[in-house]
Amino acid sequence: MDLKNKSNLTNEEILDTRKSHFLPTAFLYYKNPLQLVKGKGCYVYDEKGNEYLDSFGGIVCISAGHNHPKIKEALIEMLKDDEIQHTSTIYLNKHIAELTEKVISEAPKGLDKCSFTNSGSEANELAFIAARNATGETMVVNLRHGYHGGTSGTLANCGQSSWRFKAQPVASTTSAMEPYCYRCPFNLKPESCSLECAKNVETTIQTSTHGKIAAFIAEPVMGVGGFISPPAEYFHEVCKITHNYGGKYISDEVQTASGRGGGNFFLTKELKIDADIITTAKGFGNGAPIGAVLMKNDIAQAMGGKLYFNTFGGDPYQTKQALVTMDIIEEEKLIQNAKEMGDILLSGLKDLMKKHEVIGDVRGRGLLVGIELVKDRKTKEYAKDETLEVMEFAKDRGLLIGKGGFLGNVIRITPPLSINKKQVEKIISVLDEAFFELAKQR
Ligand SMILES: Cc1ncc(COP(=O)(O)O)c(C=O)c1O
Repeated sequence: MDLKNKSNLTNEEILDTRKSHFLPTAFLYYKNPLQLVKGKGCYVYDEKGNEYLDSFGGIVCISAGHNHPKIKEALIEMLKDDEIQHTSTIYLNKHIAELTEKVISEAPKGLDKCSFTNSGSEANELAFIAARNATGETMVVNLRHGYHGGTSGTLANCGQSSWRFKAQPVASTTSAMEPYCYRCPFNLKPESCSLECAKNVETTIQTSTHGKIAAFIAEPVMGVGGFISPPAEYFHEVCKITHNYGGKYISDEVQTASGRGGGNFFLTKELKIDADIITTAKGFGNGAPIGAVLMKNDIAQAMGGKLYFNTFGGDPYQTKQALVTMDIIEEEKLIQNAKEMGDILLSGLKDLMKKHEVIGDVRGRGLLVGIELVKDRKTKEYAKDETLEVMEFAKDRGLLIGKGGFLGNVIRITPPLSINKKQVEKIISVLDEAFFELAKQR
C-alpha cells in the first residue's frame, strides 16, 4: 500500500495527546493501539503499511467496502464541480430528495415519512420525540442489555451500566427482560420457553407504567449486547403487546440495516416486524455521519405545527454518499452476498465450537455474527480476558475483529458486505489458530 499520505504523528504522540486532552471515557482496542491510515475494500492499513482484514468495519459502519471507487468518484465530482457543501433543509437539494425516495422504497409498507440525522443516537432521540408526541404518553419500554446511543434520552434507555453515568435522570423509561436465549433470564430453553421474555414486556407495562406507553424500542439483533438474536416470533408478540397498550414500536436498526441481515435492506422487513418507526445509521452512509428515521404517516402528521431542525441532517455530501452506498448494495448484490458469506461464516464458526471449549455460543444473522466465550460451558462464566487475548492474537495475524456483550466476552464479526469466500475462510482459520493458542497458554 502506498503510504505517501501517511500520518506525520507517531502512535506515541497521538497517545500523548489523547492522555492529556481526551475525556477519560475514550477507549482503545489492543495493548499497542493501531493507527489506521488507509482503507480499501475489506482491508485497512496502519501507518507502517501493515495490512489487516477488517472484520469489524469501524464499528459496523462499512457496508459497501472502504473507499469504494464509486463513492470516491461521486464525492470528487461534487467537489470538482463546486457543489454546495452545506445548505440544510431550509433550501431545496436534489440529493436529499433522491435518498428519501430510495430509502423509503426499501422500507416496510406504510413507513413513508423520513428525516435524516447525523448519528444513530439522534435518530433514536427523534423517534422518542415522535412516539411521545403522537401518543401523548411519556413511558418508553426498552430491553435490558440494549444500547441505543450516547445522548441523554438514549442513555436513559440503555440496558448496560457501563455506559450510564452518575446522576443522569432516567425519567419515563422502564426495562423489560432481555430475550437472550443463551443466558435466558427465566432459565428456560428456547424449544419450550413459550416466549416468556415477550410476555415480560406486558408484565413490565402492567407493573411499572400507568397502563399506557409511548413506545417500545428494541434492536432486531442486539449489537452492543453481543449480537443477541431473538427469534422472529418474539418481535411479533412484542409488537402486539406494544400496540395493545397504545405504544409505537421503534425498531432500532442502527447496526442491523443496509442489508447486513442478509435478506432485506431492513431486518425489520425481513423479520416481518410490524414497526411504526425504524431508525438507522452506521452502515447507511458507509462511514459518512448520517442517520435516518422512517415513520408511519400518522406519527409524522401529529408532529405538524411544531418545528424540528437539524443543522447537518440531510447534508448534500452525506446524503449523496448514502445514496451511492445504497446503489452499490443493489448493483453488487451485497445483501445476497451477506447471506451467503454469513452462512459460510456461521457454519465455519459452529465447527470451531466442536473443537474449542471456550466457545459457548455462536449466533447471528447474515454478517452480524457473535461468538460468546465462556470459561466453562456449564457455569457460562464470562471469558472476558480470553476475548481480549483472541483479539490480540488475531490482530497480530492481520485480522481485526470487534467485541461486545455485557462483560465484553462476545467476539463480534461484521465485515464489509462485499467480503468474499477466501476472506471468510481467513477469519475462520485465524480464529481457529487463536483458540488453539489460547488453550495452549492456559
Ligand atoms: C443499536 C444502536 N443504536 C444506536 C447507536 C448510536 O449510534 P451513534 O453512535 O451513531 O450515535 C448505536 C451505536 O453503537 C447502536 O449500536
